[in-house]
Amino acid sequence: MERRTIGATALRAQAVGLGCMPMSWAYTTSQQVGEESLRALHTALDHGTTLLDTADMYGPFTNELLLGRVLKERRADVVLSTKVGLLTGEQHIVANGRPGYVRRACDASLRRLQTDVIDLYQLHRADPEVPVEETWGAMAELVTAGKVRALGVCAMDPWARRPPGRQTRPHAAVLEQLRRVQQVFPVSAVQAELSVWAPEALEDLAPWCAARGIGLLAAMPLGQGFLTGTLTTGGGFEPDDVRARHPRFTAEMMAANQPVVAGLRRVAARHGDATPAQVALAWLLAQGPQVIPVPGTKKARWARENARAAALRLTDADLAEIAGLPRARGSWD
Ligand SMILES: NC(=O)c1ccc[n+]([C@@H]2O[C@H](COP(=O)([O-])OP(=O)(O)OC[C@H]3O[C@@H](n4cnc5c(N)ncnc54)[C@H](OP(=O)(O)O)[C@@H]3O)[C@@H](O)[C@H]2O)c1
Repeated sequence: MERRTIGATALRAQAVGLGCMPMSWAYTTSQQVGEESLRALHTALDHGTTLLDTADMYGPFTNELLLGRVLKERRADVVLSTKVGLLTGEQHIVANGRPGYVRRACDASLRRLQTDVIDLYQLHRADPEVPVEETWGAMAELVTAGKVRALGVCAMDPWARRPPGRQTRPHAAVLEQLRRVQQVFPVSAVQAELSVWAPEALEDLAPWCAARGIGLLAAMPLGQGFLTGTLTTGGGFEPDDVRARHPRFTAEMMAANQPVVAGLRRVAARHGDATPAQVALAWLLAQGPQVIPVPGTKKARWARENARAAALRLTDADLAEIAGLPRARGSWD
């Protein structure tokens, strides 16, 4: 199984990781069952997955507690990635980048995760009230203290998907933030949305990471499930599922974007029993050795399928076919 290096920190992870968010947050909450998620975690590790991506906010806190049950027994099998800086309120999410908070949040994550070190600690969102250098400085002190091995930045820019012309560089604000934190302490990884239907990070973030030997964790690599071809168009999401309010998941947009899934299916058909999900992940792996997708799932069978995508090699013809697929549409187009 191929391993990839995350930044200059010598963290080595299997090329496809596991996003743990759907186990406790964001999608089909009625199906978030601890035992099933534990099976998914063990299955992923049994199939060679090493990078587990979580956050204190997922749940909140319950996702880290769940991972702690696995880490207690299998810490050596895992490259552990969690996040700090976002808090959930009653009806809202707020950023907190105050240094004292960062220190307390790290200790709390370590307790929940039942470990004494976090391999990759990521800034979930910058706090507009706190200079990002102060937050990052506090995170760097955690490395010095031996509680954290390497630092990363989440670059989830809601403006990145705007159509061309509205904004010249999709992640301009994020790149400026990265430039500022790099002056304080090295960035080992950037996590950003990147997938066949959201390729904007390839324009600016991917080259920025590649030039500096920084890992790029591809979040939402399966288009929040859409690219797997298993979602029913207009299938009606549960009210607290984020896709119920997402412009790309209206019945109209899901129908309009079917040609993207059809293209992944055609490529998959040329690779034996490969699935559209595996092709979507293999396409990401082909974008550069610094890219590590973290597909999210709470199901053992998807975790197994996604781990196996690390062995799928797309041909130049496959990549050309995917490059020629119609640009995915959202309601703002
Ligand atoms: N830094 C950030 O701010 C940020 C933001 C978003 C995401 N992330 C990270 O990125 C990870 C991945 O993103 P994501 O989970 O939102 O989206 P995703 O990986 O694009 O898609 C997840 C959805 O796809 C389904 N799925 C997974 N594998 C499948 C397969 N082989 N066949 C059919 N369906 C499959 C899952 O279903 P089930 O739920 O039924 O398993 C889940 O609903 C997250 O888990 C999180 O770690 C980070």
